[in-house]
Amino acid sequence: MNLPKKVKLVEVGPRDGLQNEAVAVATAAKIELINRLADAGLPVVEATAFVSPKWVPQMADNALVMAGIRRKPGVGYPVLVPNKKGLDAAIAAGADEVVVFGAATESFSRRNTNCSIAEGLARFAEVCKEALAAGLKVRGDISVCLGCPYEGEVEPQAVVRVARELDAMGCYEITICDTIGVGTPGKVRAAFEAAAKHIPAERLAGHFHDTYGQALVNMYAALECGVATFDSSVAGLGGCPYAKGATGNVATEDVLYMLDGLGIDTGVDMAQLIAAGEYICGVLGRPTHSKAARAIAVKFAAA
Ligand code: HMG
Ligand code: MG
Repeated sequence: MNLPKKVKLVEVGPRDGLQNEAVAVATAAKIELINRLADAGLPVVEATAFVSPKWVPQMADNALVMAGIRRKPGVGYPVLVPNKKGLDAAIAAGADEVVVFGAATESFSRRNTNCSIAEGLARFAEVCKEALAAGLKVRGDISVCLGCPYEGEVEPQAVVRVARELDAMGCYEITICDTIGVGTPGKVRAAFEAAAKHIPAERLAGHFHDTYGQALVNMYAALECGVATFDSSVAGLGGCPYAKGATGNVATEDVLYMLDGLGIDTGVDMAQLIAAGEYICGVLGRPTHSKAARAIAVKFAAA
């Protein structure tokens, strides 16, 4: 089996996870979480989102988060931006990488960003041009690639169309996202193989929510396609406010357990990662969604 020897894990818990929490999480706790995740060896920690605070109030403290984190050398701290207003605010806050986020279906695009796919892409073209000119990196996420809560089945070609546009705008990495976790490995393969005909697999990333318990096996299917970058969320935090019922991303601890078992290098330390997960679960007052973190805690308690 020709699996990658090294995988880049993009931790999205502080953004994708905390954006979906009903309780307000203190800015200081977000900063502490981000610092702990970077210290655990994660090479990329998605820090926050410069979106409308009316749409996602949980991310309203974006500039304070960016001002408060300790920037560990070599670690990326990308932030989501939906438009030029978000980009300007992100640059003012010192971001050096932004993420534009489109969708494979019209209905999801409208619910998430109040515009059509084409209108969203036009905004991203402006964001990409200005961000790249200012020396920032731009990543492109595509939601609902394996199924949409409003339109059901999604054809791989719908993913490819958006991916090619993001590629042409200069996104260095394009993330195929299963927003509501409905995908299964055959669909993963179809989407990634179709996208890889136009964009090298090394520049594609996977983002799998675990709603139906398929995220790890979907990730494995993407690994088999040569994909070596994956988003995940410490303690399985997360969801999407515009995809009702969607649960969190696959837990970073579970992903790390699988990759460690496969002998794939990530540079992430399990003990520090679990401690970061325990920290945020303490703040939220609920147990972890990571099975590996639970099992390892039980093992240590028994030892
Ligand atoms: P809109 O209401 O159409 O925007 O929202 P607008 O341009 O008409 O502006 C409305 C108000 O928002 C104005 O303020 C703007 O200034 C303000 P007012 O005059 O009413 O006081 N505004 C902003 N404020 C701060 N930052 C901004 C910004 N832009 C406008 N950037 C908009 C359109 C795109 C802004 C809105 O729909 C939005 O913010 N959407 C973001 C939704 C979101 O964050 N969703 C979750 C993240 S995506 C996700 O989780 C999926 C992912 O994980 C992958 C996956 O799993 O699929 C990435
Ligand atoms: Mg997501």
